[in-house]
Amino acid sequence: MSANPLAFDAAAWRADRLDEVELALSQWVGVGAPDALAEPMRYAVLGGGKRIRALLAFAAQEAVQGEREAGLRAACALELIHAYSLVHDDMPCMDNDVLRRGKPTVHVQFGQASALLAGDALQAQAFELLTPEDGAVSLAHQAKLCALLARAAGATGMAGGQAIDLASVGIALDEPQLRQMHRLKTGALLQASVLMGAACANAVSDRTWNALTTYADALGLAFQVVDDVLDVTADAVTLGKTAGKDAANDKPTYVSLLGLEPAKALAQRLLEQAMNALVDSDLEDTRALAALAQLVVQRNS
Ligand code: IPE
Ligand code: IPE
Ligand code: MG
Ligand code: MG
Ligand code: MG
Repeated sequence: MSANPLAFDAAAWRADRLDEVELALSQWVGVGAPDALAEPMRYAVLGGGKRIRALLAFAAQEAVQGEREAGLRAACALELIHAYSLVHDDMPCMDNDVLRRGKPTVHVQFGQASALLAGDALQAQAFELLTPEDGAVSLAHQAKLCALLARAAGATGMAGGQAIDLASVGIALDEPQLRQMHRLKTGALLQASVLMGAACANAVSDRTWNALTTYADALGLAFQVVDDVLDVTADAVTLGKTAGKDAANDKPTYVSLLGLEPAKALAQRLLEQAMNALVDSDLEDTRALAALAQLVVQRNS
């Protein structure tokens, strides 16, 4: 980290990237779809969400000085997969939630069939964004980005983690089992966010790739630990989603396993691990990545 940390304005950095990703999403999501599908797709993605995955992709892409068009498309693709996962996660057959990002959930607003299809279409559109036909992203980058995203979203990533989550209702998991569930259902996509950003460069040293992998692994687990904590400590207005539902649904969480204060302490330790990993990279400027790790752990929603 050769740059002066005092010169970095994390809030301004974030605001600029949020503008960029919101504009791109609003221009891309559901365009060309029949109205009956475009509407729930756009409802699911636009007008809410912290965009942590997009921000991580931008931060990593900038840190490795990768291609911006690839970084922007990666950021949007990640947010589409994430939004799809939330639409399905909220459905009655899963967590049965009625509130998301401060609004009625997609199935409440549009019905279950539309929610299911909107999720399906968002997942496909993520890969469409990564594979533009006009040469805006090189074929090598397209392939790498698709590979990272598919593996993070699928059976050995998010979907696999969601399956473990559903199978674990009412079951007291031990710490390694809970960690594995969290790493898959939430950590995988967050890790992919960082690595997809890094994959926008033509080459990244092994040392940097490994450091970013370690950073993102710690951050990904920390994210879900904090989500578990906030489910207990925050209210629905702040969260934009129903509070207290993990206990109500009898889900194993870090709070149910360790207790509230130890879960918070674990999130802090994971933050330190993430920060330490950045020091082990060859990257010159990791300030945005560091600021995002802090945001993940210190957020209140
Ligand atoms: C919520 O994710 C679901 C989890 C993976 C824990 P976020 O907290 O990132 O949700 P949004 O995108 O900001 O709504
Ligand atoms: C969801 O975890 C993880 C996903 C893959 C969507 P949660 O079920 O804890 O997420 P929230 O609390 O509903 O946002
Ligand atoms: Mg869930
Ligand atoms: Mg849920
Ligand atoms: Mg939760």
